[in-house]
Amino acid sequence: MRRALIGAAVLLVAAVSTAAMVRAEAATPTLNALAAAKGKYFGSATDNGELSDTAYTAILGGGEFGQTTPGNSMKWDATEPNRNSFSYTRGDAIVTFAQQHNMKVRGHTLVWHSQLPGWVGSLPTTEVQAAMENHITQVATHYRGKVFAWDVVNEPFNDDGTFRTSPFYNAMGSAYIADALRTARAADPDAKLYINDYNTDGLGAKSDAMFNLVKSLQSQGVPIDGVGFQGHLAIQYGFPSQMQQNLQRFADLGLDVAITELDVRMVLPRDATKDATQATYYNNVVKACAAVTRCVGITIWDYTDKYSWVPNTFSGQGAALPWDENLQKKPTAYNAIVTGLGGVVDSPSPSVSPSASRSASASASPSASPSASRSASASASASSSPPPAGGCTATYKIVNQWDTGFQGEVNVTAPAGRTSWTVTWSFANGQTITQLWGGTYTQSGASVTVKNETWNGTPPATFGFLANWSGTNAIPTARCS
Ligand code: XIL
Repeated sequence: MRRALIGAAVLLVAAVSTAAMVRAEAATPTLNALAAAKGKYFGSATDNGELSDTAYTAILGGGEFGQTTPGNSMKWDATEPNRNSFSYTRGDAIVTFAQQHNMKVRGHTLVWHSQLPGWVGSLPTTEVQAAMENHITQVATHYRGKVFAWDVVNEPFNDDGTFRTSPFYNAMGSAYIADALRTARAADPDAKLYINDYNTDGLGAKSDAMFNLVKSLQSQGVPIDGVGFQGHLAIQYGFPSQMQQNLQRFADLGLDVAITELDVRMVLPRDATKDATQATYYNNVVKACAAVTRCVGITIWDYTDKYSWVPNTFSGQGAALPWDENLQKKPTAYNAIVTGLGGVVDSPSPSVSPSASRSASASASPSASPSASRSASASASASSSPPPAGGCTATYKIVNQWDTGFQGEVNVTAPAGRTSWTVTWSFANGQTITQLWGGTYTQSGASVTVKNETWNGTPPATFGFLANWSGTNAIPTARCS
């Protein structure tokens, strides 16, 4: 009997130490654990087709992610394909998976111009408001208690900050936004209500428009709890201007902010240099959120290139996510997220180049980061920094670019003592400025002249602008005098 007891004790010790070893191995914190230590979540979007891929779901539900967003299955075309006929099967499947794996769910999305069934667009304008309110009421009621937040309105703005036309805007003007938020609040008083958009990640005309909209909604007493920043970034267009400051100004309005659809695409094929730049972008986004108390979490727009929307949407681009198409972690991007969340990467992988980690840790002001200017100038042949002329220097870069427009930014530096500056350049490809802030400008043909405002004559100063382009968008040589 005594021997049996000792034997049992030895077995017990062996079992305990094995468990301890397993625990120690599993103790490398997951992305969500690192985020949770800062009071935030780290999540991944998912979609129904992917839930039958067991290798995929093992990672999705394996602890890295504490939150998920259905990539498609709560959108209007999925939930109300025919008028007043609702279908929740696919959305429910994702909620069930999330509940089984301790993941919170962001509802996405109630009112959006895209993925709308045809019947909405065919409604007479007099019926659109009732249809929208009914849709919101039904869907938000169904998911009450199952989602912690809703993207009530998705992508309300054009890139220049004007309101986007949609059946809702056409019927109600911008008042559809307030109406949608009020309707969502009535249906689900507990969910955090968000407006979500892209190209609002940094300071600029579009994020100014969002900022002004939110302030106006607040002044009218409209329920709004958060703003979502999609974070669909591309290394060839540069990093958003001053992302942390941008998130902070929304947080300062008393709102939650969230990075809702993060991915960082590149022109294929992948290579080590692009991976390193991509890693700095991931690191900068994560650090920007980490630095803002009211940034509640980060969602990547699926975690693997196997199921990314990018190649289907942006021809020739991809490799946007931290796991590759074989579900293998990319050490560069993954480690950049870990360090951005305050984690420690044990043995730096050789593929995290010293330059990547240097620029990743360089500054929370991404517009100043060498990687951003490097990647922006890499997309064009000309160098943007001529030798200093007249005692000041202008550095021109493209911070964002889409099919017909782009956003530029020019940084002006000078030795102490200057109180005014003039920057000039000549566009080579017919580009036309449509809006400029942080300076006063004239454009005559290709020639652009920008002078300081009264309040920023002493460098360092920055001005930004929106412009049209087509064909080629070469970076001009900007001169300062
Ligand atoms: C994308 C999905 O990922 C794709 O599967 C679908 O074909 C198109 O929509 N902004 C959004 C998301 O708010 O809903 C979009 O998702 C990506 C851009």
